[in-house]
Amino acid sequence: MESSELKKIIQGIPKAELHLHIEGSFEPELMFEIAKRNNITLDYDSVASLKKAYKFNNLQEFLDLYYIGAQVLLHEQDFYDLTWAYLKKVHSQNVVHVEVFFDPQTHTDRGIPFEVVINGIYKALEKAKDELNISYKLIMSYLRHLSEEEAFKTLESSLPFKHWIDGVGLDSSEKGNPPSKFTKVFKASADEGYKLVAHAGEEGPAEYIWEALDVLHVQRIDHGNRCLDDAVLVQRLIQEKIGLTLCPLSNIALKVIQKMQDHPVLKMLDKGILATIHSDDPAYFGGYMNENYYETAKALNLNKHHLMQLAINAFEVSWLDPETKEKHISEVQNYFSALSS
Ligand code: ADE
Ligand code: ZN
Repeated sequence: MESSELKKIIQGIPKAELHLHIEGSFEPELMFEIAKRNNITLDYDSVASLKKAYKFNNLQEFLDLYYIGAQVLLHEQDFYDLTWAYLKKVHSQNVVHVEVFFDPQTHTDRGIPFEVVINGIYKALEKAKDELNISYKLIMSYLRHLSEEEAFKTLESSLPFKHWIDGVGLDSSEKGNPPSKFTKVFKASADEGYKLVAHAGEEGPAEYIWEALDVLHVQRIDHGNRCLDDAVLVQRLIQEKIGLTLCPLSNIALKVIQKMQDHPVLKMLDKGILATIHSDDPAYFGGYMNENYYETAKALNLNKHHLMQLAINAFEVSWLDPETKEKHISEVQNYFSALSS
């Protein structure tokens, strides 16, 4: 397929984004703008010099910079502007449903109240629902480099806002911080009615994916690249219809894979795994949803059927109700039928 045709097709697909850290959508231009109004001096003298620092050898090198960037966010308006900028961007890419992560501890540990963070994010999500027709779910993520006790404090702080939060996740430094470290807080989160997901098998081994399923009882795995190391695990993912939210440009940027041709998503689709594509931290990794679809499709020679399957899988493993899922899936199918006629 020609590049321009492929781009046009991808643009037109109604898409769901299920793996997006709102702090990772913080574009350098907005970071400088908010830093200025908050009287914060960044360590970089221009957008260009900041962007030059976006070279990572692994997850930790990225996280170090990502947490520094987030320090600019102080007020409700900052969280609102961050979230609104993301939603406007993905609206332009025909994303119609988002499930957004936020990392409360990144902010509460700096003395920013939980409610300041969530009010800003929530108001922007509601505005997008009304004005852009984007539906959403909100996922609070525990930072796995911190203790389970600290995650419990975050769970406690979230309870007054329970009606705004759909689920909990687990992110940050994976190696050495297995899912089982958070067994009790995931159980307590489920008892509060939260749905469960966890990052697993990004840099960590397939064993962490087993733990996320068997010990934390998550419904979906973020990344999950390493599942292909374990044939029994692959069968389990297929049988239980566990979605994997893959992030190809993130995997390249963090050297989880060396080149896009090595990305496991095509193998996963061929095996019948419910693999999907998302952007993770688009401001840091060079692309939003369309760019992730495009770079993956180009490198792996994906055809229209693969693209359709990726889009359908995302709605299938989303947290939308069954009727809304069906409606979106039909729209994707109709879109592709119209393309081939
Ligand atoms: N936080 C933001 N992006 C992340 C990623 N790709 N893995 C783990 N934690 C993250
Ligand atoms: Zn992530």
